[in-house]
Amino acid sequence: AEPLRIALAGLGTVGAGVVRLLDANGDLIARRAGRPIEVVAVSARDRTKDRGIDISRFDWVDDPAELAGHAGADVVVELVGGSDGPALSLARKTLQGGKGLVTANKAMIAHHGLELAGAAEAAGVALKFEAAVAGGIPVIKGLREGAAANVLTQVYGILNGTCNFVLSKMEAEGRDFAEVLAEAQRLGYAEADPSFDIDGIDAAHKLSILASIAFGAEPAFDDIAITGIRHVLGADIAEAAALGYRVRLVGVAEAGGDGLFQRVHPHLVPLDHPLAHVSGSLNAVVAEGNFVGRLLFQGRGAGDGPTASAVVADLIDIARGEYGPPYAMPAAALSALPPAPTGDR
Ligand code: NDP
Ligand code: HSE
Repeated sequence: AEPLRIALAGLGTVGAGVVRLLDANGDLIARRAGRPIEVVAVSARDRTKDRGIDISRFDWVDDPAELAGHAGADVVVELVGGSDGPALSLARKTLQGGKGLVTANKAMIAHHGLELAGAAEAAGVALKFEAAVAGGIPVIKGLREGAAANVLTQVYGILNGTCNFVLSKMEAEGRDFAEVLAEAQRLGYAEADPSFDIDGIDAAHKLSILASIAFGAEPAFDDIAITGIRHVLGADIAEAAALGYRVRLVGVAEAGGDGLFQRVHPHLVPLDHPLAHVSGSLNAVVAEGNFVGRLLFQGRGAGDGPTASAVVADLIDIARGEYGPPYAMPAAALSALPPAPTGDR
């Protein structure tokens, strides 16, 4: 069978992880997808950097936007990052040019997802972003497809691996905030600018994406009330533990009569709640459906392996021809829900 040929922009933590995963599991993936998935072209900033992978077998282009028009590629994978700039230019060109796009870029999807979904639907191509929310956990697929028959009323969870790693290590090992954050950066969990992680912005990007899919609502990142973990002290965590709680950064979205409520902030989670036992770089998402009841998704929320796993899962769907509208319904059918008051809930 004809391979699905990939142009890959970004060869950092996630991009190199995708190449490694396809090298390791390519035969099995080809059997599952019904055809091989092959990288044919790549782009990053520094052609000479040692990435622990052989890139000499791929076409190299200096400007990622050129990948949109790469004659040998069927699909573009965007793993550069940033809500605008080269990632957005590449995404727009790719979809307008009639190629499918897979991205892990939650910042771009949170800010421009509706526009990009409209472009993908107009061109009749895929836009897929499983890796953008909760790393390796198939939560977008779970809500979009698994829970598609339900009215979902609430979705909440731990959506940032870096913050969860920092909070867990501060509690379990009594370590210093800055030192644990540096370790999360070394492990490839943090964003290029880690203030996106610790100030709650990354979790809010993900929450806005989940809320759109769960509630059929237009993305509304700007309406999210956000507080990060920058000011959480070791003493706060110790005091919470003494009272039977763990401190976790939690994002909550609810849709109801008074609109769409979305909030990200440090929560005191009682020890008998499943989120209290989500530690290290793990993420977890809880969703409430009117027929299915409570769903709990848990797994590794950051890092090369889990994120590459989600990117390649999207590619397998495209190789099989199995993809629908990015938000589970046409972008034009999403409702514009007013922001609900973020007061006492
Ligand atoms: P990295 O910073 O490790 O990699 C970014 C890659 O993009 C690098 O290869 C870099 O080139 C390349 N790049 C950056 N700017 C440019 C540019 N102007 N032109 C060409 N290439 C450029 O990021 P990650 O791999 O960690 O993240 C990639 C995306 O995945 C982001 O959107 C991130 O939010 C998302 N994500 C990351 C996760 C993680 O755990 N790391 C998890 C889920 C999503 P060079 O290597 O030459 O510098
Ligand atoms: N910086 C993100 C996190 C990467 O720590 O969760 C995964 O999206």
